[in-house]
Amino acid sequence: MENQTLTQRATMPAAHNPVLERRTVANGNQNLLKYLRPGLSVMDVGCGSGAITRDLAERIGPTGRVLGIDPNAGLIEQARQNAGDTLGVAFEQADVYTFDTSERFDLITCARTLQWLREPERALVNMKRLLKPGGWLAILDYNHEKLNWQPEPPASMRLFYDAFLKWRQEAGFDNAIADHLDELMHQVGFMTVQTEIQHEISRRNEPTFATSSRLWAEVAELRGPQLVSDGYVTEDQRLQAIIDYDQWIATVGETMTVYLLAVEAQQE
Ligand SMILES: C[S@@+](CC[C@H](N)C(=O)[O-])C[C@H]1O[C@@H](n2cnc3c(N)ncnc32)[C@H](O)[C@@H]1O
Repeated sequence: MENQTLTQRATMPAAHNPVLERRTVANGNQNLLKYLRPGLSVMDVGCGSGAITRDLAERIGPTGRVLGIDPNAGLIEQARQNAGDTLGVAFEQADVYTFDTSERFDLITCARTLQWLREPERALVNMKRLLKPGGWLAILDYNHEKLNWQPEPPASMRLFYDAFLKWRQEAGFDNAIADHLDELMHQVGFMTVQTEIQHEISRRNEPTFATSSRLWAEVAELRGPQLVSDGYVTEDQRLQAIIDYDQWIATVGETMTVYLLAVEAQQE
């Protein structure tokens, strides 16, 4: 497969992305809470439209600095607009493989981004290089193979989801990256690596169930057109998955558990 095609597969659509914008440190990156203190310097790699990044800046306060980087020009533009005049936050269009600066960081966070990289180890090497001595690298990522729905979702959504995993795998992305991070962190030279379970669990009896469990309908809406144009599902199959899955949420859906791990290590 041509590199150009694979690069496109990693590219987020530029449209407003409600999944990214719903996230905060508390609901989407709570593994970072233990590090946050006034004056901290933080880099948020693969910051998207910057929802978590600006929350980090607000929590750290004006004496700190948070830099969000993302190669997607449209998302960086949205991130700048969304941040408005939030103090201590900046965004730069940049790629984790090649980003360079003379600055060194107390904390580098990279959430839900290595899952979209064909060379996650190369990205880890560059992030490790940009840490201060004693600084922390905090990776948060999925094992998509361990997603669990109770009860089983409609066959049309299962078909879409399986196609999504195949589409990702054939582009060279690791669907199970969460469970490979400990080994990767050791490979790039970290001696002690800690792992925290951060599974995202949506339960029917919670007021957020309809929104949070809709994640996969939103993936079918936002990224599904890429699968259609790449020939992994038809447009009818994509639309049917959305309709049937919304019905599952409204009627029989009980839980959706997305498998997510925070894997962290400290620079010596
Ligand atoms: C699923 S989003 C995660 C956004 C945010 N970190 C969060 O947890 O909500 C993945 C992000 O990784 C970015 N990304 C993809 N390739 C990248 C690369 N080579 N370097 C840095 N970021 C990249 C995408 O543009 C996208 O914004």
